[in-house]
Amino acid sequence: MSIPLTMPVERSTAVEERTRAIGRQIFSLVRESGGEGWLEARLMDLTLRDERVKAELFRFVDVLPVLSDDRQVVLHLREYLLSVQHRLPIWLVNVVRQMPDEGWPVEIVATLARFGASRMAKRFIPASNVPQALHMVKQLRKRSMAFTVDLLGEAVLSEAEADRYAAEYHTLIEGLADAARAWSSVPMLDNSPAGPIPRINVSVKLSSLFSQFDPASPEGTTTAVLGRLRPILQSARRRGVFVNFDMEQFAYKDLTLAIFRSVLSEAEFADWTDVGLAIQAYLESSGDDLRALVQWAQRRGAPVWVRLVKGAYWDYETVVARQNGWPLPVYARKAQTDANYEALTAFLIANHAHLRPAIASHNIRSIAHALALAESYLLPPRLLEFQMLYGMADPIKTSLVAMGQRVRVYTPYGQLLPGMAYLVRRLLENTSNESFLRAGMHGHATEEHLLMNPLQNLEIQSTSRHDPRNAVLVQRPSFVNEAMVDFTRADQ
Ligand code: FDA
Repeated sequence: MSIPLTMPVERSTAVEERTRAIGRQIFSLVRESGGEGWLEARLMDLTLRDERVKAELFRFVDVLPVLSDDRQVVLHLREYLLSVQHRLPIWLVNVVRQMPDEGWPVEIVATLARFGASRMAKRFIPASNVPQALHMVKQLRKRSMAFTVDLLGEAVLSEAEADRYAAEYHTLIEGLADAARAWSSVPMLDNSPAGPIPRINVSVKLSSLFSQFDPASPEGTTTAVLGRLRPILQSARRRGVFVNFDMEQFAYKDLTLAIFRSVLSEAEFADWTDVGLAIQAYLESSGDDLRALVQWAQRRGAPVWVRLVKGAYWDYETVVARQNGWPLPVYARKAQTDANYEALTAFLIANHAHLRPAIASHNIRSIAHALALAESYLLPPRLLEFQMLYGMADPIKTSLVAMGQRVRVYTPYGQLLPGMAYLVRRLLENTSNESFLRAGMHGHATEEHLLMNPLQNLEIQSTSRHDPRNAVLVQRPSFVNEAMVDFTRADQ
């Protein structure tokens, strides 16, 4: 039977105290590590403090990979930056204005722009092919960190592209599995109290397996996706490779869950436990989804992993919902997402026999809370694992390893063009005012504030008349269009 989301008061008080103690311990280890790797983040923070400037720079980075002509690079850079010139330092405006239109200086400016963008991209996308990805993951294992490899690319546009994508996944799985046979064992990474953990772990986005992925056509989409997914899963299972399903935008969520449940109920996969999927705590529906998932896993009789994330599409979901006049599927306040993340962590830990918890967060409070809960449920160490993205929060990863935890690093590889959506999500995440990393590591919040219970945070916010978020939430336009019909929803 699944356990409800609420906890007795005595237990929650004890968990709260331990959360803060563990949080302080992690902060202290992070400080001891000297915070290596934060310099670039700080530089990014300084340049991207202004939302409008940030938007223009992201537009430029987005278009850069398709600009083959140096002159076009300079023209675009000038156009984007001058559109926000009143927000830039005067020296920079002068430099941009005086950028040349032709000759060798154009070549230099274009080369510098490409160099800058590719350096920024390399921070989050460390490899562009399988041998490079292999090198990166070997480095991670040397640092006692596990990995999951993701082939960049989503929402493919043609069937030929989907075929190429599926073929590349086969190459990736075969290449990594062959190489892993020669690796020496790292017990902390390769074993958990529940049994052996596959050395190779890959993540896949379903929208990359069918060019017409469309929730309005669930049967057609499922058949086409399964045509490419099943052989990938068969190959992975044969080679002892773990497969995780990423979660994309809200519109794809129900179909992704349905395909996950359907294929893993098929006879050849029904007892396979080296599989999992991501659940996004910023969705109001995530609690119901987890409840349904635990019931399904109980019926199936074999556990699956749940990678608990907060969700990477908050800006997109907010814009799409507002544009169509639909209710927001995501929480409007960061503290609500954080509080839901903690409730879902508690649910996963209580139901760990059916849903194995993978805590994917760079937030020390969220991580410490999971560790405190695991202690309170007397779970053996490393029954749950922690996951973080490549290029983010390295000192937190190292601190958790020092504390004897299994840390898995999400390592994407591929070309910049198909990886652009991923890169822009990382840039948004790293420069968001709401981000824990930005607030925590760049010094504009105290440790105690960062370790505060999100429920307490919410209480403070909702009573503060000066909190601008309260005004935003009640603002209503004077004229409201009839909402668009969402044909993917049965009730409409
Ligand atoms: P932090 O505590 O700073 O939280 C930031 C998050 O809070 C935002 O990303 C957003 O979800 C939420 N938020 C921000 N502003 C908000 C507001 N005003 N109201 C409500 N909520 C707000 N993502 C995904 O969607 N699908 C996936 O499959 C994966 N896969 C994945 C794998 C791994 C290993 C990791 C580490 C991460 C992912 N992610 C993901 C990305 C993940 O969603 C993203 O990294 C986290 O949201 C960042 O949360 P933190 O706890 O690290 O930071």
